[in-house]
Amino acid sequence: MKLEDIKGVGIVGAGAMGFGIAINFALWGYPLIISDISERALQRAVANIQYAMNMFVEEKLISHRQADECIQRIKTTTNLVELAARSDFVTEAIIERAEDKRELFNKLDKMCPHHTIVASNTSSLVLGDFASDVSRQDKVVITHYFSPAHIVPGVEVGKGYRTSEETFDITYDLMKKIRKVPIRVLKERHGCLLSRIQRAMDREVFQLWAEGVATADDIELGIRSTFGFRMPNEGSMMHHDLSGIWRWPRDARLALWSRDEHELSTEAADIIRERMVEDKPWFVDPNRLDDEIEKRDRTYVRRLKELYWSKEDWLV
Ligand SMILES: NC(=O)c1ccc[n+]([C@@H]2O[C@H](COP(=O)([O-])OP(=O)(O)OC[C@H]3O[C@@H](n4cnc5c(N)ncnc54)[C@H](O)[C@@H]3O)[C@@H](O)[C@H]2O)c1
Repeated sequence: MKLEDIKGVGIVGAGAMGFGIAINFALWGYPLIISDISERALQRAVANIQYAMNMFVEEKLISHRQADECIQRIKTTTNLVELAARSDFVTEAIIERAEDKRELFNKLDKMCPHHTIVASNTSSLVLGDFASDVSRQDKVVITHYFSPAHIVPGVEVGKGYRTSEETFDITYDLMKKIRKVPIRVLKERHGCLLSRIQRAMDREVFQLWAEGVATADDIELGIRSTFGFRMPNEGSMMHHDLSGIWRWPRDARLALWSRDEHELSTEAADIIRERMVEDKPWFVDPNRLDDEIEKRDRTYVRRLKELYWSKEDWLV
């Protein structure tokens, strides 16, 4: 199958995630059908889609015409057979329970055309937990959206043990086609990639708050005004590159990664130390560091003005 062979799209589960996922596809031209076991959930989804489209138009993200066309492309049904018959790409967004997902995947496997790709929006399970009985092992994949799914750009595209390269590539390209930012997750892990990263931070946030180290207000303010301030431009790896450590003597760099505060596995620590020894930054050539820092600082100064210095009360 090729990307162009995807003509119709199905979403199963019309809850908090399903309606937003539907908007992504319908807005960029795909006829779409949403199915749910609950008629009320479908009605709510239609109302949510209407509400979201109104906001997109009010904020001048799209035109009236685009919003109308998006809504017209979306149909709803409680009949899964109807959805399966019309879908070349199905996204499952039902309750996060492995037995329920397993039952649904088995049904879809029987009902959908042979070529149809079936994706799951699971946030904590892996394909092996619920898709191991389907005959189309090569055509199951994870697409993990972030709430609100019609707004947040990033989507994890996760590979299962038997997902084919073709399915993985088509799904990646499909996410690009509907203007999302696809992130390849190459190995099956519970919580994929980004929920794990988020969870690592959440663990410290709630632990330190419970210990009384800071108030909730100060923790929030601290996150937003420090690394949150930088994050639209740099994640953890870019931050390391720009921090200047690549100009440090090797022994100082190695010492940084030898401290056990990073709590890395022995294997991971070895891989990173090797990188330090080999002088291999992730993104920024040390010879271009000054230019990159200047570019970064200019963006930050503009953000400082917009978010802080232009406000009477910047501590909110
Ligand atoms: N809410 C989030 O922030 C978030 C973020 C990322 C991923 N997810 C994942 O997305 C999935 C859906 O989450 P949600 O928050 O939208 O849940 P939700 O409870 O809001 O919606 C689930 C919908 O699925 C329907 N449903 C349940 N069983 C069904 C079945 N067998 N067939 C058809 N429809 C069925 C329910 O009626 C409900 O409308 C879960 O796997 C969740 O882990 C959620």
